Amino acid sequence: MAGQIPQRFIDDLLARTDVVDIVSERVKLKKAGRNHSGLCPFHQEKSPSFTVSADKQFYHCFGCGAHGNALRFLMEYDRLAFPEAVEQLAGRLGLEVPREGDDDPRQQVRERKRKEGVNLLELAASFFRERMKMPEGESARAYLEQRGLSAEVVRDFGIGFAPAQWEAMRHHLGGHGISEAVQIEYGLLVHREDSGRMYDRFRDRVMFPIRDMRGRTVAFGGRVLGDAKPKYLNSPETPVFHKGRELYGLYEARQANSRLERVVIVEGYMDVVALAQFGIRNAVATLGTATTEDHLSRLFRVVDEVVFCFDGDRAGRQAADRALRTALPMMIDGRQARFLFLPEGEDPDTLVRREGADAFEDRVTCASPLSEFLFDQAAQGRDLGQIEERERYASQVLEAIGQLPEGMLKSLLLTELSRRTGVDQSSFESMMMRHAGAAQEAPMETAAPVPPGEAGPVPSEAVGQAQGGSLGLMARALQLLVHEPGLAERLPDNDDWCDQEQSDAQLCRQVVRLLKAGGYRSPQVLLAHFHGTPEGERLAELARREPLVPKGVRGAELDNWVAYFQRHRRQRSPQEEYDALLARSRTGETLSQQERKRLSELLMELKG
Ligand code: UTP
Ligand code: MN
Repeated sequence: MAGQIPQRFIDDLLARTDVVDIVSERVKLKKAGRNHSGLCPFHQEKSPSFTVSADKQFYHCFGCGAHGNALRFLMEYDRLAFPEAVEQLAGRLGLEVPREGDDDPRQQVRERKRKEGVNLLELAASFFRERMKMPEGESARAYLEQRGLSAEVVRDFGIGFAPAQWEAMRHHLGGHGISEAVQIEYGLLVHREDSGRMYDRFRDRVMFPIRDMRGRTVAFGGRVLGDAKPKYLNSPETPVFHKGRELYGLYEARQANSRLERVVIVEGYMDVVALAQFGIRNAVATLGTATTEDHLSRLFRVVDEVVFCFDGDRAGRQAADRALRTALPMMIDGRQARFLFLPEGEDPDTLVRREGADAFEDRVTCASPLSEFLFDQAAQGRDLGQIEERERYASQVLEAIGQLPEGMLKSLLLTELSRRTGVDQSSFESMMMRHAGAAQEAPMETAAPVPPGEAGPVPSEAVGQAQGGSLGLMARALQLLVHEPGLAERLPDNDDWCDQEQSDAQLCRQVVRLLKAGGYRSPQVLLAHFHGTPEGERLAELARREPLVPKGVRGAELDNWVAYFQRHRRQRSPQEEYDALLARSRTGETLSQQERKRLSELLMELKG
C-alpha cells in the first residue's frame, strides 16, 4: 500500500502550478482586468460568471458558487480522485509523487524498481515503433494497411513491430544497461528453466502498447501477422501490470475526448483500433479476460455510462450474463450500463467496416438498458405461460435485483417485476428482506414508490412507516432538493412550510433560499457551499443516500409534502411568530415583501 502524499509536496505543487493554465486548457477564458473569465463549466449559462484569479490562485463562479484551487478544479472537471489529481499536476511538472514512508528502504527499493520498469517498457515501446519504420517492418506495415489502419491511428495508439529475431530486444535493452533479470521480470525476456535458454518474448508480431491512465506503457499485446497460434500474446502479470485492472484504449479514449461521457467495452485490441479508425474513439477492451469489478470501478470513475459489446452467439450471451452480475452491485443511481449484441459472426472491427460508423453508433444508442436485459435474460427459454416457469423467472430477476445497491433503480425494477408477474410488490420486498436479512445487519430501506398525483389527506410516506425508521419527512424533502436542486423552482415563494420545529427545517429553509436565489443546479456545488460545516455534513449524509422517490415523480411528491407541511404548521401565538420573523431579519436574512407586511401587522397587533 502506498502511503499518504505528504502535505508539503501538495503545497509545493500548488505553488508551482498556475490555476489559470489548468483551467484554460479546459475552458475558454478571456482576460478581464486582473482576472480571467468565461462560461462556467459546472452549470449551464449563457453569460460568463466564472472567474479565475491568478493572484489568488482560485476559480469562482458567481452563478453557481463553484470554487476552489487547481486541484479542486481537476477533481471536479476531470472527475479525478484526489491522489489522481495530484499525480496529474505532478506529471505536468515532471515530478514523482512521494508517499509517506518513502524513506523506508524497502519502499525505496520498490519505488526504484517501479521506475525502472516503467522506463524499460517505454524503451521497449519506442524500440517496437522504430523497428516498424525500418525495412524489416515492411511486413507489419503491409499487415496493418491490409487491416485498413491509417498512419494516424497507428501513431495515436503507438503500434509497433517486434522483429523476427530471438534476441533483438535483449540486445537493445542490454545496450541500455538493463539487466536480464529486469527484462524477465517485466515480461520482455523469457527464461526457460529446463534448457536455461533466454529469448525475446515478442517476435515477429504487431505490437500494441497497453498504457495506464497516465499514458505510461505498462504492458504489450502482440499479434501474429498470419494464422499462427497463439494469435495474441500478452505480457504476463508484472509489478506494473495486472490484467484484471487495465483496459486497452482507456488512455487513448480520454486523450481523444475532452469530455468522455460513455465508454464502449469490446473484446479485442483490433476492435478498439478499428473503431478509432472510423472516428469512434471511446472504445476500450479488456485483455482477454471477462470484465472485472476493478475494470468497472475504474471506468465509472471516468464516465457514467458503459456499453458492453458482445457477440450474438451463445458464448456472447454467457459473457453478458457474467458482465451483468459484475455490474449489478455497482449500479448506484446515475450510472448506466447497457448491453449490445452484435450479429453472429461479426465483431466491432468487421461490423464498423461493413456498416460504417453511423450505423455502429446507432447500434450503441439502441443497446438494451440493464433493466431490459435483466428481464430478457431471465425470460430466455422459458414458457411464461406456466406458473412454475414464471416462478423461476421471478426468482431469477429478484435475485438479480437483490444485488443492486439501494436506490431508485432497485425500487423501479421491483415495481416492474410486480407489473410483469402480477405479484404484489410488497411480497417481493418481504422475500428480499428475508434473503438479505441474514447477511445484512442494518434494516433495508424498502422502496415504496408513490404514484404521481396521489395527494391524499396525508402524503403516502408522511407517516414514516417502512422507511427503515430513518428519515423524517422534512429530511426527505431536503434530500430531494440536494439530489435535484432544480426542484426548488416549484416551491412556493413563501417558505413558511418549512418553518417547523424540526431539526432539518432550519437547514431546509436555508437551502431553499440559496437555491432560489443563486441558481445552484448541481448537488456538488450545493454541498461545496456548505463544505466544512455541520450543515454540510448533514447534507452530504442525505446526498449519499438515494431518495426512495423515483425521478419522474419527485416534483409531484415534493408538492404533496409541502401541502402537508402547510396544513400541519404548528399554530403559533402572534408573539412567537413575531419573534421568529424578527430573529430571521436580524441574522441578515432578507424577508420577503409578504413577510415584512406580516411583521408590521404583528407589530400593530401586539402593540395594540
Ligand atoms: P479474438 O480471437 O476475438 O481476436 O480475441 P480479434 O480481437 O477479433 O482479433 P483479430 O481481429 O483476429 O486480430 C479477442 C481478444 O482476446 C485476447 C486478445 O486480447 C484479443 O484481442 N486473445 C485472443 C488473447 O489474449 N490470445 C489469443 O490467442 C486470442
Ligand atoms: Mn477481429
